[in-house]
Amino acid sequence: MVVLTDKTKKRLTIETLDIAPETNTIRSLDWDRDRFDIEFGLQNGTTYNSFLIQGEKIALVDTSHAKFRQLYLDTLQGLINPTDIDYLIISHTEPDHSGLVKDILQLAPNITVVGSKIALQFLDNLIHQPFERKIVKNGVRLDLGNGHELEFVIAPNLHWPDTIFTYDHKTQTLFTCDAFGLHYCTDDTFDQDLEAISPDYKFYYECLMAPNARSVMSALKRMDALDKIDTIATGHGPLLRHNVEELTGRYRKWSQSKAKAETTVGIFYVSEYGDSSNLAQAIGKGINKTEVAVELVDLRGDVDLQELREIVGQCKAIVLGMPPSKGGAGIQTALSTILGSANEKQAIGIFETGGGDDEPTYPLLNKFRALGLNVAFPVIEIRHTPTENTYKLCEEAGTDLGQLVTRDKSIKQMKSLGADLDKALGRISGGLYIITAKKGDVKSAMLASWVSQASFKPLGVSIAVAKDRAIESLMLVGDKFVLNILEEGNYQPLMKHFLKRFAPGADRFADVQTQEANNGSPILADALAYVECEVVSRMDTGDHWVVFSTVDTGKVSKPDSLTAVHHRKVGNHY
Ligand SMILES: Cc1cc2nc3c(=O)[nH]c(=O)nc-3n(C[C@H](O)[C@H](O)[C@H](O)COP(=O)(O)O)c2cc1C
Repeated sequence: MVVLTDKTKKRLTIETLDIAPETNTIRSLDWDRDRFDIEFGLQNGTTYNSFLIQGEKIALVDTSHAKFRQLYLDTLQGLINPTDIDYLIISHTEPDHSGLVKDILQLAPNITVVGSKIALQFLDNLIHQPFERKIVKNGVRLDLGNGHELEFVIAPNLHWPDTIFTYDHKTQTLFTCDAFGLHYCTDDTFDQDLEAISPDYKFYYECLMAPNARSVMSALKRMDALDKIDTIATGHGPLLRHNVEELTGRYRKWSQSKAKAETTVGIFYVSEYGDSSNLAQAIGKGINKTEVAVELVDLRGDVDLQELREIVGQCKAIVLGMPPSKGGAGIQTALSTILGSANEKQAIGIFETGGGDDEPTYPLLNKFRALGLNVAFPVIEIRHTPTENTYKLCEEAGTDLGQLVTRDKSIKQMKSLGADLDKALGRISGGLYIITAKKGDVKSAMLASWVSQASFKPLGVSIAVAKDRAIESLMLVGDKFVLNILEEGNYQPLMKHFLKRFAPGADRFADVQTQEANNGSPILADALAYVECEVVSRMDTGDHWVVFSTVDTGKVSKPDSLTAVHHRKVGNHY
């Protein structure tokens, strides 16, 4: 059955399948989920996967998003009488998986909810009603009978602080919820099409897991101690069965290289309050663009103060999401610990959502200043529901911070090129272009000269875009943009304008004359010509992405003029 939600006409469907002996999946397929959350970059919708394991006792692993309420509950009731369910296992309390816990408890009030200590605390705050509970620790087992012995693996921060995995010894299935997932909605229950899912798998890892690379490694170590894993039953996207080793291997490889990064920034926040978890992630994403590792620490969890001191001590910069002033003694102690462990070699950035009940921002910032910390970006104060522009602002603030803490290293690297090679490379020249892009409500632009036609059939161009450019996240596969070609003798004003240092989130088109292209991106009125482009693929070349795009529409507005050419003296600068 397909349900079209009233307001948005978005397709929601549901699928059930036996995936192992006495084990069903109930997959809620959200075909058109908006790309509003930062990890929904590649526009392939998502799924919320729930599982039913029927031994002598019956366990339900996670539920679904509240938007699937009727569809999910009807489907579940088609499979089983809810009062027959003994356990509801909560992998973590994020609403897209636990959105229907209250409904399940209504249908089956005697169910025992199983989760980590923190998950059950969070759940108390979410549903405000008593329920039977079982707190599990790492290695604890729960025997459902008929061979289904469940073993729990504590996997904090993947990607919530309360996360657990569940391993069924009979079916060798590991239920991991967010970890190893991807936002990818197809009818395929499993990962048979590795090539198709790889870009989303990587993108999801980068957004949600990379900021917790160390926690990923700890979880992998715990997984190594289990028997063979036949299937990874993820909470989003296809379940991993055909490529378990390959795909877990990728997590290992990516996390090892992140954990090895010389420079780390700690982001400390309280995710319960407002949207700070999403903002923290957006800042983390921006920092990651500069090859700096991020350690996200949710102060709501069971924070070990000694560990907190160590993390702060190792960080080049601290980002602090203002905790609520009534956040409790634990959070206040954590805050004092961060302040007490900070040092003058570090940078600081502060963000605040909602306001009102938060700790006041400026007195705290001043305390860090007094300790000698360098302020990396102006305080981000979000008073309204975050929009795409808010997340972009946070991402750009994160990138600015990453660039600040790696500045000395970047200068050293640039200078290290041999003089002859540097000069020879400098003889490679290009034109001058402004790339302009609009995605949703977010607009951005950059000056580029590493641009070249790259194919006749299809007509295509390549552009080298540094990984830490603000516009980079608007140039993902499938995104559209305009390549504005500048005019010889008349490029200076535009070049000067777009080379300005824009504050995070600044409108780069203020005082610039534009009109809208068919693909929605701005065309610069003073450009010599423009072409409309769509990104087809991106090649990782180290510090840049070489973005290959096909072009369709294009127009020359000044037929008698030539393209501005950019001659260089050295190869280690544009
Ligand atoms: C002449 C010239 C050519 C440039 N060409 C490129 C380019 O091809 N790719 C790129 O990523 N950056 C290029 N840049 C750098 C960006 O245009 C510049 O750093 C810009 O301000 C980006 O800032 P942002 O990261 O805040 O968006 C060039 C800079 C200059 C001066």
